Amino acid sequence: MFKFNFNVDSEEAEVLDDKKCVDQEPESAESVECYDSEMIIVEEKHFENLDIYRATCTTAEYGDLEMSYLLAGCVGEILKDKGTDIKQAEEKHSDLIPGVYEGGAKIWECTEDLLQYMARNPESNIFQEKRILDMGCGAGLLGVYTLLKGGTVEFQDYNKDVLETITIPNVLLNLADSKEEIQSNLGRVSFYSGDWSKYAELTKDDEKFDIILTSETIYNPNNYKKLADVFKRKLKKDGQILLAAKIYYFGVGGGLRTFEEYLANDKTFDSKSVSQSASDVHREILEIRFKENVQ
Ligand SMILES: C[S@@+](CC[C@H](N)C(=O)[O-])C[C@H]1O[C@@H](n2cnc3c(N)ncnc32)[C@H](O)[C@@H]1O
Repeated sequence: MFKFNFNVDSEEAEVLDDKKCVDQEPESAESVECYDSEMIIVEEKHFENLDIYRATCTTAEYGDLEMSYLLAGCVGEILKDKGTDIKQAEEKHSDLIPGVYEGGAKIWECTEDLLQYMARNPESNIFQEKRILDMGCGAGLLGVYTLLKGGTVEFQDYNKDVLETITIPNVLLNLADSKEEIQSNLGRVSFYSGDWSKYAELTKDDEKFDIILTSETIYNPNNYKKLADVFKRKLKKDGQILLAAKIYYFGVGGGLRTFEEYLANDKTFDSKSVSQSASDVHREILEIRFKENVQ
């Protein structure tokens, strides 16, 4: 299987995939105006379909945790209004329309890798009372995992549609059982849409994060500066980033080695590979921290 030139053929990827995409060249990202950032407040309308979400969601276990989440295919089935950006991508049978829809409506393979990694290494991944950013969150499973482990989590995605129709439902599904309990826990979550550069600017005065998690966000080298800027502006000096990605994204040019090279030239962060996938599609997890001499 080969999709949006993101090479995908592992068994586990199949499980998490919505199988809706077809081979195609991504459109040019040049001259695309990016979306402004906006805080999305959870309100009454987000609770309307909660019973349907509960009836249609799937569950998966990671270590001692059970998480519930919507499968992208099901979202399409149950939602009448899933938003214009997701609809456009579906109509074009595309995983990506640069600057319009950036792939957040489905769950990508490296999210599974990072969930497994965190579950395998609970002693080095403590989220209790930590402030966490799920950057380019899509369905938000990384953030949901850390939320269930006691963290306070900010979910950030390019598309407001994705946050409203997939991420927020997934968070509500896991936050608590009753609506009242969910509402009383909403202080532990926040949601921001928009481009990384705009998000960093909008939230510049907020408390920084102990941990940034990000999966499959380095496919486009044009965005490396924006990504690194978010890391610089939003991570505490002793904070940690876990970044999961494929070694190479065919057709789009980005990949882990290229991103590592960018970081090395930038001289702000140290990075090391902490996990490698054994499948045909090479994937890795990087741990990234500020260099000791960076103030
Ligand atoms: C391939 S999807 C991966 C989604 C999710 N992390 C996963 O692994 O399933 C890339 C994600 O990065 C976000 N993203 C891409 N470019 C972005 C940008 N310039 N600003 C903000 N978010 C962006 C998208 O909205 C999308 O959710």
